[in-house]
Amino acid sequence: MIIVFLPAEELFMEHAKALQVLSRQHKEDRLKCREFLKDIQQQRDKSGIRQRIVQFWKNELQKHVDAEEAILFPFLQKHHFPFNFVNILKREHDTIRLLAERLHRQDEDYYLYNAFVKLVDQHSHFEDEIIFRKMEEVIPPQELSQLNVSMAAVAR
Ligand SMILES: [Fe+2]
Ligand SMILES: [Fe+2]
Repeated sequence: MIIVFLPAEELFMEHAKALQVLSRQHKEDRLKCREFLKDIQQQRDKSGIRQRIVQFWKNELQKHVDAEEAILFPFLQKHHFPFNFVNILKREHDTIRLLAERLHRQDEDYYLYNAFVKLVDQHSHFEDEIIFRKMEEVIPPQELSQLNVSMAAVAR
């Protein structure tokens, strides 16, 4: 019997490659969230924090959320991905949008900033760790690569 050992990084790279575009955006967004949470904890410059979170939503996150709704969700439905998972993602997107609208309306409230940033962080983590892992189990790699190409075409 021949056993081929692949280095762990190689497996991981292969594993990540098919969903690279979204995964990279999740990583960037989670780093931003961490910065925001630090600012919120220090409670300095209340309206400055709000402006930065609103800019993050307008310039980065909104494009990501729109692209997932336009491309990723229909892709999951097409591949009969468990309905309850897709539903959770949709509901969380709705809540993210709702909170973003409140941020737009000059609601200066650390509780709101915190709720928005924590939800975005937790949602990105859920997609990356639970959804993507499950996608790799149930959807053929060439289909996933095709999804990645579509996502790259609309990448922010
Ligand atoms: Fe999402
Ligand atoms: Fe996402």
